[in-house]
Amino acid sequence: MSMPDLKILVADDDPGARELICAILDAEGWPCPTTVEDGDVALSHLGKDHWDILVTDLDMPRMRGDELVLHALEVDPDLSIVVTTGDGTVGNAVDLIKMGATDFIPKPYDVDDFLASMERAKTRALGIHEVKGMRQTVEALLVALESKDRYLNGHSARVRDMAVKLGEFSGLDRGQLRALSHAALLHDIGKIGVHEDVLNKNGPLTDDEYDLIKKHPRMSADIIAPVLFLQPSLAGVLHHHEKWDGSGYPDGLTGEQIPLMARIIAVVDAFDAMTSDRSYRGAMTVVEAVARIREGAGTQFDPRIAALFDQYKDEIFESEEVTQ
Ligand SMILES: [Fe+2]
Repeated sequence: MSMPDLKILVADDDPGARELICAILDAEGWPCPTTVEDGDVALSHLGKDHWDILVTDLDMPRMRGDELVLHALEVDPDLSIVVTTGDGTVGNAVDLIKMGATDFIPKPYDVDDFLASMERAKTRALGIHEVKGMRQTVEALLVALESKDRYLNGHSARVRDMAVKLGEFSGLDRGQLRALSHAALLHDIGKIGVHEDVLNKNGPLTDDEYDLIKKHPRMSADIIAPVLFLQPSLAGVLHHHEKWDGSGYPDGLTGEQIPLMARIIAVVDAFDAMTSDRSYRGAMTVVEAVARIREGAGTQFDPRIAALFDQYKDEIFESEEVTQ
């Protein structure tokens, strides 16, 4: 999205202030904003269309600017909001930023200060737009992958949901959980580079075919490597087929050499694979699959993570449609 496409809404009860904002933005090559004179009208605009930036006055009759900020963020949590006010106390500014406003400028303002605030709001809006675009790209890739391998239907999303639950029980913080969530969703994306005949083969794989399959964690990591916000997820993706005893791939890591994120994904990935129909066998029951995870503790799986999975399995399955 470029600057001419930015959609800006201005709410101010003072016609002079509305005109001033339009004139400043116009002089600097910004797109012409839509202006409204109160919060109610602003909210009805926000409900009908997508907007990138809201500029609002704090002191307006009927609905105050801070009330508008709260309601506007309920409608669109991604909205960037610049608040202007004649009552420029520090307390006001702090309260508004806590509420989720992007920036705050006291009136009368300097044109350059106003433009600097608008630049901050624009940078934020463009960043949000980019992340949304990437999410859509990732979703499109997953749809492509899962349509190619009929046994993967819904696997990525199920592994993500269970990995996040198990990650919570393993004591990960919010940032780690976010990285885990992306890693678990994308762990098999590299299978997009493996031929469908191999992915969907009935019966045992030849050595060559197995070698090909074993390349998928590195291919997954290569696909996501250029994407900045997926950097913290790389290790989880690359090592999701390592085994605790060192017999896994791609690097044959052992024990705690394997990133924790990957040890978590390994357990829920194996569980989901066992409880789904695959080309080479039918689905196992949940009870059987849990028993297999228990048996694999200390050889295939991190024993602590496998025990947590066993202990909290009911909560972990809660978000899932696991059939007994
Ligand atoms: Fe995999």
